[in-house]
Amino acid sequence: MSKSQSQEWSNSGVGLFLDFERHRHRGLRAGIETGVRDAIRSGRLAHGTLLPPTRALARDLRVSRRTVVEAYSQLAAEGWIEGRRGSGTVVAFAAGQERGADTIRERQPVRWRFDMRPGRPDPSSFPRAEWLRALRRALAVAPDDALGYSSPRGQLALRAELAGYLGRARGLRITPADLLITTGFTQGLGLIARCLAAAGARRIAIEEPSMPLHRAIVRAAGHELVLLTVDQDGVRVDELEHAREVAAVVLTPNRQHPTGAMLSARRRSRLLEWARDTGAFIVEDDYDGEFRYDGHPLGPLQGLEPGVVIYAGTTSKTLAPAVRLGWLAVPESLRRALTREKELSDWHTGALDQLAFTELLRGSGYDRHIRKMRLRYRSRRDAVIDAIGLSSPALQITGAAAGLNLLIRLADAATEGRALAAIRAAGVGVEGLIEGGYYERDGLAGVVIGYAAASEHTFHGAIEALAGALSTVVPHGTVDAIGGPATRSR
Ligand SMILES: Cc1ncc(COP(=O)(O)O)c(C=O)c1O
Repeated sequence: MSKSQSQEWSNSGVGLFLDFERHRHRGLRAGIETGVRDAIRSGRLAHGTLLPPTRALARDLRVSRRTVVEAYSQLAAEGWIEGRRGSGTVVAFAAGQERGADTIRERQPVRWRFDMRPGRPDPSSFPRAEWLRALRRALAVAPDDALGYSSPRGQLALRAELAGYLGRARGLRITPADLLITTGFTQGLGLIARCLAAAGARRIAIEEPSMPLHRAIVRAAGHELVLLTVDQDGVRVDELEHAREVAAVVLTPNRQHPTGAMLSARRRSRLLEWARDTGAFIVEDDYDGEFRYDGHPLGPLQGLEPGVVIYAGTTSKTLAPAVRLGWLAVPESLRRALTREKELSDWHTGALDQLAFTELLRGSGYDRHIRKMRLRYRSRRDAVIDAIGLSSPALQITGAAAGLNLLIRLADAATEGRALAAIRAAGVGVEGLIEGGYYERDGLAGVVIGYAAASEHTFHGAIEALAGALSTVVPHGTVDAIGGPATRSR
C-alpha cells in the first residue's frame, strides 16, 4: 500500500484523511480504529461528519471489508461513531470543537429587518431562472478546453458580446480587444493602481466623498492620494488642474457616489483636456450607469476619448454583488501592462461565470433584466420620495435622478448621528455620509438611503419604517444641494 493510499481515500465517495500508516503496526483493524479515534479526539472529524461506507473504505485501503466492518463496530460500541439508517455512518462524539459553519464564531454582517443600505440591488430580483438557463446552455455547448486555464483578458466570446452591448447600450467606443474581464471594480481599481505604481507613478486623485475601500486600495498600491472636492456639478476639475504629477483620477462622473451629482458637460471637456495635456488617465467608474430615471445622461467619457479613459463596469448593481464580474475598457497604451497585472493577481476570472454571462448577453436576457429593474427601481424611488415628502416635508432629498440611492442632507454630524440612531432603531439599515467614512477631511452630513436593497416583499414596510423614523429628525435648513434637487417622474 502506498503512503498516499494509506492516508487519503478519495474514491470512497467521501474524502477522509486518516494517519493510518502511523498506526498500522498495531494491525489493520486497530490501525483504522486508532486513526479514527485520533481524528475525532483532535476535533478534525467533527460531530455529525459522514464517514466513508465500509465497502468503499475497504477498497481504498486494500483491506477486507470485514476488517472495516469490525473496526466500525468497535468504534460504534465505544460511542465514537454511529450508523444512521439510510444516511450512513457518522461521527457521534463531539470533541468540544464543533466546526460546522453555523458554529464558527465570526463576526457576521448585520442583518437588517429592512435593508436600505446604498449600493445594493434587490437580491430577490436576481434573475435566478435566466442565470440557471444561461449556465446550463453554456455548459452544454462549452468544449472541454473552456474548463482549463484561459486568457487573463477574459474569454473572447464574452468580450465580443460585451463590446456589442457596451457600444449599443452604454455608448462606448470599443472593440473586444479593448476589454479586460475582472471580478469587479474592486479588482479593476487595484490592478490599475498597481500597474501605474509599477510604471513609477506615485499620485492618484480621487473624489471626496468616495468609498473608503477605494481610497484604501489606491493607497495600498503605494500611491499618495489627491482628494478632490465634489459639488453639484460633480468633481472640481480645477483642483486637478492645480495638482502636481497626478497619474490618474478615479471618479464616478455619471452618478457621483454617494452624492448623486452628475459631472457637468463643461467639466467633462476640461477633464478630458487635462488628461490629454498631462498624459494622465481617467478611471471612469460607471458602477450604476444603467439606472437613470430623469434627465439625459451625458454618455460615458470613454465614448469621447477612448485613448485616455479606463472605463470600468460591473454586474454588482445590475445582477448581484455576489456574481463578482466586471470589466475594464483599456486604452491601447496600458493594455499589456494591465493584462500582466491581472495575470499576477489571479490568472483569470472564473470561466463558468464568464460563460453564463456570455449566454445571458447573447439572448438579450441581460438587457431585459436591466429594463425591468430600471422600471422597478424608478417606482421605488418615487415611493420613497413621496413617503419622505409626506412625513418630513422639510427634509432635503438630493441625488435621486439616477442610480440606486438618494441622499438626505443634514445639518451636522450630531444630527446625522441622531438620524441614524432613529432609523436603525426602526430596523432600517442605512449609511451616514460622515459615519460611513466617505470623507477624510471635513465633509457634509447626511443619510444615504438605498431604495433597491430591500427585497420586493419588505420594501413597503421599509419605507414606512424609514419615513416614521425620519419624521423625528431635524431638517437641514439650506438648499445648497449637491446632486441636484430631487425630482420624481412616472
Ligand atoms: C462607487 C462604486 N463603484 C463600484 C462599485 C462596485 O464594485 P464591485 O464591482 O467590485 O462590486 C461600488 C459598489 O459598492 C461602488 O459603490
